[in-house]
Amino acid sequence: MTTNANRSSRPVLLDVAGLHVAYGKAEVVHGVDIRVHEGEFVVLLGRNGAGKSTLLQAVSGLIPKRAGAVRFAGRDITATAPRDISRDGVVQVLEGHRVFTGLTVEDNLMIGTYARNRRGDRSKLARMYELFPELAERRHQAASRLSGGQQQILAVAQGVIGEPRLLMLDEPSGGLAPLVVDRILRVAKDLCAAGVAILLVEQLVREALKYADYCYLVETGRIGGEGTPDEVRAGETIRRIYLGGDAPATVP
Ligand SMILES: Nc1ncnc2c1ncn2[C@@H]1O[C@H](COP(=O)(O)OP(=O)(O)O)[C@@H](O)[C@H]1O
Ligand SMILES: [Mg+2]
Repeated sequence: MTTNANRSSRPVLLDVAGLHVAYGKAEVVHGVDIRVHEGEFVVLLGRNGAGKSTLLQAVSGLIPKRAGAVRFAGRDITATAPRDISRDGVVQVLEGHRVFTGLTVEDNLMIGTYARNRRGDRSKLARMYELFPELAERRHQAASRLSGGQQQILAVAQGVIGEPRLLMLDEPSGGLAPLVVDRILRVAKDLCAAGVAILLVEQLVREALKYADYCYLVETGRIGGEGTPDEVRAGETIRRIYLGGDAPATVP
């Protein structure tokens, strides 16, 4: 079991400190501190609109930060351009299985290689087809012909092919069948075992807690609680909101 004590024995990979993020004048992230250690599987839980996606996009540099600091692998990336952040090894898979539906599966994967290498790198394709056989079979098909689950797997593969040191997955389960969700979370867990740190946003709390080493609870732009899965399961807030009798429909 992961505890706070053995968590802190691993080096910190991502360190978000006092982060504030706003859309225009409307601040939606109000001073968030989170950390992801090397090789750790961290989950952000929280209701719709809590600010989870905003937080990830601010880390990626896709949304400007109003205040606070983000460090990755010891480097300050607070003001770094998104392209350089992804070349450093921070890769985000956006919410809603966004792939280029007019392009083939293979061309979508090639786009993923640009995250790390300006010219793209075809030599990485074979490994992806090994990891995701369902994509190998469909490599020359337009992504629009894939099912929702296959598109999500493609979106994840597009992130993985960029060889992240930190892979941020924003609700990869969104609208998908339980078997596909399980497949995606297992892929994430395997990557984690291979040394990739994972920062997952997930509505399926029970599923996410099965795979997580550590969790943060995001409540209207603030961290309302944190702990290991066991601590989170035992905590009042999460039990009341997610695991109790009045759980929202998204919890199985
Ligand atoms: N592009 C945007 N412009 C203005 N407000 C936004 C935008 N995106 C999200 N918001 C608002 O920011 C808050 C946090 O949203 P979001 O980060 O998407 O939450 P979550 O991912 O936890 O569901 C919500 O109140 C949402 O309405
Ligand atoms: Mg979101």
